[in-house]
Amino acid sequence: MQGFIIYVLFFSFISPCLCTRLNVGTTNDIYNVMQYGAIGDGKSDDTQAFSKAWSSACTSSGMSTLVIPSEKSFMVTRVNFSGPCNAKILIQMEGRIVAPSKEDWKGAANLISMEYLNGLIVDGNGHGEVYGNGATWWKCRTCFRPGVLFFHACNGLNVRNLKISDSPKTHVYVNQCDGATFTRVSINSPATSPNTDGFGISYSTNILIQDSDIKSGDDCIAVNDGSTFINATRVTCGPGHGISVGSLGRNRTTEKVSDVHVRNCTFTGTANGARIKTVEGGSGYAKQISFEQIILVNVKNPIIIDQKYDPAIRDTSVLVSSVTYRGFTGTSATDVAIDLDCSSSGCYGIVLDENNIVSAQPGKKTSAFCRNAHGAATHTIPNVLCLSK
Ligand SMILES: *[C@@H]1O[C@H](CO)[C@@H](O)[C@H](O)[C@H]1NC(C)=O
Ligand SMILES: *[C@@H]1O[C@H](CO)[C@@H](O)[C@H](O)[C@H]1NC(C)=O
Ligand SMILES: *[C@@H]1O[C@H](CO)[C@@H](O)[C@H](O)[C@H]1NC(C)=O
Ligand SMILES: *[C@@H]1O[C@H](CO)[C@@H](O)[C@H](O)[C@H]1NC(C)=O
Repeated sequence: MQGFIIYVLFFSFISPCLCTRLNVGTTNDIYNVMQYGAIGDGKSDDTQAFSKAWSSACTSSGMSTLVIPSEKSFMVTRVNFSGPCNAKILIQMEGRIVAPSKEDWKGAANLISMEYLNGLIVDGNGHGEVYGNGATWWKCRTCFRPGVLFFHACNGLNVRNLKISDSPKTHVYVNQCDGATFTRVSINSPATSPNTDGFGISYSTNILIQDSDIKSGDDCIAVNDGSTFINATRVTCGPGHGISVGSLGRNRTTEKVSDVHVRNCTFTGTANGARIKTVEGGSGYAKQISFEQIILVNVKNPIIIDQKYDPAIRDTSVLVSSVTYRGFTGTSATDVAIDLDCSSSGCYGIVLDENNIVSAQPGKKTSAFCRNAHGAATHTIPNVLCLSK
């Protein structure tokens, strides 16, 4: 009898604890912005509803799903999805999110910031779209213009099946993130829109952008200071300024980028294909970079290293080394298809192999230009005779 009482007491104390413990990590609570007062008519300000839904999702435990439902349009002025959160969060971003026009934008802050989060998933499921209303900003070239999505200190991030269009400036910022995969992200802005980079990556590592399509008025992907292990695979770019490392070394800064790998990408009608750009007077490096299996359609500078060499200045520069260009095929819109214009300190370890870049104009020949470029070229059209050992 005493044993039985102890048994009952024991389990009446322990089992509720056990239940809650077991629930941690297995619940999946749904937080739909509509239940937090969002209107979804594309005009009413739904910022507060987004923010309340986020707070609930973030403070819950286990797995939380924040739902931004499809077939609705949500106008928000400035959203801050900030962690750290108790829960691991999935944002089902299936509706359309629209930015206000410039006048109603909240102090030129990025439209949607996602910060200090581990394992965040953002899935547009093929319907989700974020519209930046950039045309209301583009005419003001000197304005400080915001971006649309800003990921800061997000580790193990996964963003997929999402459209982003007409950003005032860069569409997607990736800053201080470790481990992020972007899959089937489609970016769309006019060729004439100023500074509308597709992705701007800085101080981040292990970033993969794959199976994505980027049309913009500036770089499709810009890899900036402090970035390592940045990959782009099966990305189509154009219109736009290509996939760029840099500019590095602006205003005499020391900037470093390494291990950038671009594979199976297509450039159509872009100003550049594979570009590495540094500014004189800076220091640091851009190294261990590869561009492989690249298709070119009427690209102005298919392969370009631009270090703005000026013999009169003889200043410091960012060191460019170990750069491989392999398997480029297609057409160049200009005669100089390969332009390796290095600073007076030189670029080293440039490898060109199995490339075939012909002119987009019938009957014209392409050529290569080098200045202070060291390396080797094999099986490459145009013939590159200008590399030093
Ligand atoms: C977002 O909110 C967090 C926490 O309140 C804050 O630290 C951060 O600066 C905010 N970010 C933006 C872009 O407003
Ligand atoms: C990027 O590519 C390199 C070279 O193929 C590979 O070692 C690395 O694991 C890749 N990283 C990501 C995040 O895809
Ligand atoms: C860099 O220099 C330009 C002028 O050359 C200036 O407008 C800009 O603010 C400077 N940027 C930084 C980060 O110092
Ligand atoms: C790149 O394309 C080639 C040829 O189509 C294919 O064999 C290879 O698997 C692709 N690699 C990646 C990483 O997509």
